[in-house]
Amino acid sequence: MTSGEPGTEGSAPGAARDPGAAPTAEPVAWSALRAEVAACTRCPLHRSRTQPVFYRGGLRPHLVVVGEAPGAQEDRLGRPFVGRAGRRLDAALATVGLDEAEVGLLNVLKCRPPGNRFDPAAARSCRTHLDRQLAWLDPPRLVTVGARALAALDPEAPPILRCAGRPRTALGRPLFPLIHPAAVRSHALARRWADDVDALGAWLGRRGAGPREAL
Ligand code: URA
Repeated sequence: MTSGEPGTEGSAPGAARDPGAAPTAEPVAWSALRAEVAACTRCPLHRSRTQPVFYRGGLRPHLVVVGEAPGAQEDRLGRPFVGRAGRRLDAALATVGLDEAEVGLLNVLKCRPPGNRFDPAAARSCRTHLDRQLAWLDPPRLVTVGARALAALDPEAPPILRCAGRPRTALGRPLFPLIHPAAVRSHALARRWADDVDALGAWLGRRGAGPREAL
């Protein structure tokens, strides 16, 4: 998966998914939500960020990946998962055979927290944006990356290392938790990441397009 512009299929939320549909302008309701996030002053993070980080991916996604918060690169470019963690995540999604238009990427926090320290109070303020994005996108499946994203969607979930790689249900949707790609800093966690990505492919019913070494 590459970091191309968000897909722009113009059908209304809930409409039949037509992968062959010609791209049109971004739907009005989605643009309005994007503009609302851009103008948001609900929490102090809007003062320190360069720009809000709204979404990357297709607008009729088969799968939405929920991350924690934008980092420095995301803040600079205004798009989620475009730094080192994003490259690892993109490689994983490509390995299981997902292409760009099938996936949407967003974060619990729309603005980068100073020092990349996740801010639970900001997450509560930001929640309305997340809920409205998910309601509009209406993805058949969710993936969370990292403990904070999992806790936001499924507060009752066990610790991340106990439940990553095992399907669950949250917000009435099938959910697959992954550890955060930025946390993969040891051989043991690299092996765990690769195993969990294999399990993601099986959960999706994909054979997988890429070798494990690409992870
Ligand atoms: N980590 C996240 O959780 N989200 C991003 O967008 C980038 C890094």
